[in-house]
Amino acid sequence: MARFEPSGPLRGSVTPPADKSISHRAALFGAMSDMPVTIRNYLSSQDTNSTLEAVHSLGAGVDEHGLELVVRGVGLHAPLGTTGGRLDVGNSGTLMRLLPGWLAGQPGGVWVLDGDESIRRRPVDRIVEPLRLMGAEIESAEGGLPPLTIRGGDLHGAHYELPVASAQVKSCVLIAGMLAEGETTIRERVPSRDHTERILRRAQAPFTKDGDTLRISQVDEIELDEITVPGDPSSAAFMVAAALLVPRSRIVIRGVGLNWTRTGFLRIAERMGGIVVGDLEEHGAESADEPIGELDVAAAQLAGTTVEAAEVPLAIDELPLVALLGCFAEGETVVRGAEELRVKETDRIAAVVEELRGLGAEIEATADGFVVNGTGGLRGGRLDARGDHRMAMLGAVAGLASEEGVEVAGMEAAAVSYPTFEDDLAELRSARATGHK
Ligand code: S3P
Repeated sequence: MARFEPSGPLRGSVTPPADKSISHRAALFGAMSDMPVTIRNYLSSQDTNSTLEAVHSLGAGVDEHGLELVVRGVGLHAPLGTTGGRLDVGNSGTLMRLLPGWLAGQPGGVWVLDGDESIRRRPVDRIVEPLRLMGAEIESAEGGLPPLTIRGGDLHGAHYELPVASAQVKSCVLIAGMLAEGETTIRERVPSRDHTERILRRAQAPFTKDGDTLRISQVDEIELDEITVPGDPSSAAFMVAAALLVPRSRIVIRGVGLNWTRTGFLRIAERMGGIVVGDLEEHGAESADEPIGELDVAAAQLAGTTVEAAEVPLAIDELPLVALLGCFAEGETVVRGAEELRVKETDRIAAVVEELRGLGAEIEATADGFVVNGTGGLRGGRLDARGDHRMAMLGAVAGLASEEGVEVAGMEAAAVSYPTFEDDLAELRSARATGHK
């Protein structure tokens, strides 16, 4: 149990931990490369350790050299068939959905992917469908849930229209597309995070993007030398929200990823009147690199806003924070088209609504989001993280901005993505108003 008391102004600067999504991809693509890949600033957290363990048990070497990680891959078309077995993804939905794209195209191997209690409640049929379309032999347990059994084999290209805006599903199909005979095309009606696309460009894979259509062709090998992982904008978002809500705060966030497909929350916060200054990447960038920069955030009076479906994938992991900002804003804050929140680490519509209500919020769940009636503040109380890292950190930020403080049950869940969260927050609380730059 951790307690977060109402806070004086937050000051100083913070560098968020490395990006979780990009770290997973760096390790997986490193394992698929023939040449060793150096990864700078790999995230050290429960989720990304699960990925290192998985690639290690598939035969990749993983060496730590100070702050750098070197992954000695086995190649894209590895003789992985000899290494079948059980793989534990822990709490990681990204590992559960991306890795099968690689394994499905490895003739001779049989793998069973399983994870913790939360993973066992999260759908995997969303990757079973496109992989089967490509000729894969893959089976989920009842209800389209893990464990997932994969019998590697020869794949063929296919055309797939993504029914849900999911970067995990898109990435799985792109990875399988590198192994499939011919060409694979994916239509993504609503943009979602594009880290896999950037890494494919970097690896000089036969990948192109034309409007909302992605094309990938079969390839023998990929070339990657080094990857630098930026700070995670989703982790930074908790600090951004804290600085916006705690009166007279002003903080600087350094080394954070500013990829347009990840900065939806910052645009929403700005629309609500939040003061967030930084060199955000513009829409439509088709780069091989990940932009990194600084954010300058100051407390401000907020107003309610509406988040529609097209904006949801660009802020998916930060929507609980939009609800929190909404509690402090004037007027109504509405999030629509976000039914995907129901299949995250926990049902994040139910969890956010019930837990924030327990702290005094006026908030209602809808089938695909929530409606918050801003009252300008939050009383405080006790919040149960429900085993979800982002719920735990939401509770902490709520506590700092509340009238009576918040006790968070299950704060340790934060280690899934942000192991140093409490220390970083404490530092912002104790920094003095001057000399922080
Ligand atoms: C992720 C994509 C998102 C996000 C998750 C990480 C990724 O999930 O919520 O935290 O790394 O591709 P979906 O693709 O299921 O929306």
